[in-house]
Amino acid sequence: MTSTLSTPAGGPDTADIEYASRDQIADLQLHRLRWSLQHAYDNVEHYRRAFDDRGVHPSDLTELSDLSLFPFTGKADLRANYPFGMFAVPQDQVSRIHASSSTTGLPTVVGYTANDLGNWADLVARSLRAGGVRPGDKVHVAYGYGLFTGGLGAHYGAERLGCTVIPMSGGMTERQIQLIEDFRPDAIMVTPSYMLTILDAMLTKGLDPAATSLRTGIFGAEPWTEKMRHELEQQFGMDAVDIYGLSEVMGPGVAQECVETKDGLHIWEDHFYPEIIDPMTGEVLPDGSEGELVFTSLTKEAMPIIRYRTRDLTRLLPGTARSMRRIEKITGRSDDMIILRGVNLFPTQIEELILTVPTLAPQFQCVLDRPGRMDTLTVRVEYRPEIPRTEDRAAADTLRALIKNRIGVSVDVQIAEPGSLQRSTGKARRLIDNRPKDQKEFSA
Ligand code: DLL
Repeated sequence: MTSTLSTPAGGPDTADIEYASRDQIADLQLHRLRWSLQHAYDNVEHYRRAFDDRGVHPSDLTELSDLSLFPFTGKADLRANYPFGMFAVPQDQVSRIHASSSTTGLPTVVGYTANDLGNWADLVARSLRAGGVRPGDKVHVAYGYGLFTGGLGAHYGAERLGCTVIPMSGGMTERQIQLIEDFRPDAIMVTPSYMLTILDAMLTKGLDPAATSLRTGIFGAEPWTEKMRHELEQQFGMDAVDIYGLSEVMGPGVAQECVETKDGLHIWEDHFYPEIIDPMTGEVLPDGSEGELVFTSLTKEAMPIIRYRTRDLTRLLPGTARSMRRIEKITGRSDDMIILRGVNLFPTQIEELILTVPTLAPQFQCVLDRPGRMDTLTVRVEYRPEIPRTEDRAAADTLRALIKNRIGVSVDVQIAEPGSLQRSTGKARRLIDNRPKDQKEFSA
C-alpha cells in the first residue's frame, strides 16, 4: 500500500515510515535500539547497575531478539529513583516534566528534552491523522491538562498536525457541552468514560448528541470495549477510535487505531520496540500470544526506558492499514484483574455484557466485598432513563445469567437509578475493593 497522504510536519519521512517494509523497520529499530541501550547505560546509574548485575553490555545486542538478555524496568525502579534519578541528561536540557499520580505513595516522574517533545508532537499528529483528523479541523481536547500527559500531549500533537486546538481540559461538563455546541469542533480527544458523562448530560438537557459537529472521537487512557465503541458511534454519529500510551514511555500516541480499519492499534515502532511476555515467568512470547506488553524506547533522550513492564495485557498482531504491528484493544491491566473464587475477570468483560442488555446503561461499578470467608462481586449498573422501572428485575436477572454463562461466576447485580453512580471526569474507577487490605487477591 502506498501513502496518498501528504507528509505531516515535523519530519521529512514520518509518513513514509508508516508504510515502510518490515525489513526497513527492523533495520531502523536495531540501529536505534543500540543507541538507546548505550545512552541508558552511559547516563543512568540505575541502568548501568542493572545491566552490570545481569552481566550484559549494550554491545551484546547484535539482533533485536537479544533485547531479552537485558533486565526489565518496573514502576518500582522509577519510584526508587524519585524524582529525577532516571533522567539521562543534565537538568538544563530537560524541557518538561510530567508525573502520573498514584494512590500508593510517590508519583512517577518523567522528563522530556526539546527533541523528545518534538517527537511526541509528531507522533500524536501521526496518530490523529491515522484516526481520521485532518489539518484545519477543530479539535476539542478534554483530557486533563497539567502533570497528566493526556491534555498537553494531545494539545501539541493537534497543533503539530495543523489543527485549531480548543484546550478545554477535563471537568465542567456543562461548559464542555456549551463549547461543543458553539465552537463546533470536528474532533474530540477525551477518555471514553468522560465522553459517556458528556453524553448523559446532553441527553438530560434534551440535546441530540448526533446533531453535534463532532465527526471523530480519539478515545483512550483507559480500557474500553467494542460494545462501547458501538454505543458512542451510534449516539454521536461519529467514528470512535482508540489511542494508547503511558507516561513512562511517552504519553498518548504510542499506538493508534486507524479509522479505515478499526482493528486494533498500530504501535509507532520506529520509536518504541514492543515485546509480549509471560507475566509470571518474564519469557518473551511469540507474536499472537496474549501476555504483558513491554516497551523499550528507541529515541528518547531525557528518559530512555528499557523493557518497561506496562502491566497491560494484549497481543501483538501483524500490521494492516500500516506496516507497523498492532496491539489488540487492551482489555485490562493485571492490576484490575479480579480473581473471584478462582475465576479471573476484568471490568471490561462486564462492560461488554452490560451493553448487550438494551435496558442497561454503560454506567457501572464492580464492588468487591468479603462478608465472610468468600469474596463477593456486586455489579451496580444504571438502567437507561427511557426504560420503565418495572423492567428492573428482568434486566438484573438477564445480566446475572449472562455473567454466569459467559464468565462462569455468580455475582450480585444491583440496578441503580439513572445518574446515581459517580460520573467520570477522566479515567473511570470501575473497581471498588472493600475487602480487608491484607486479604486482597490483587495489588491495586
Ligand atoms: O493515560 C496516557 C494517555 C493519555 C493515553 C490520553 C491515551 C490518551 P498514564 O496516566 O501513564 O498515561 O496511564 C497509562 O493507562 O498503562 C493503560 O493501562 C491505560 N491506557 C492508556 N491508554 C489506553 C487505551 C495515559 N487506549 C495507562 N486502552 C496504560 C486501554 C489504556 N488502556
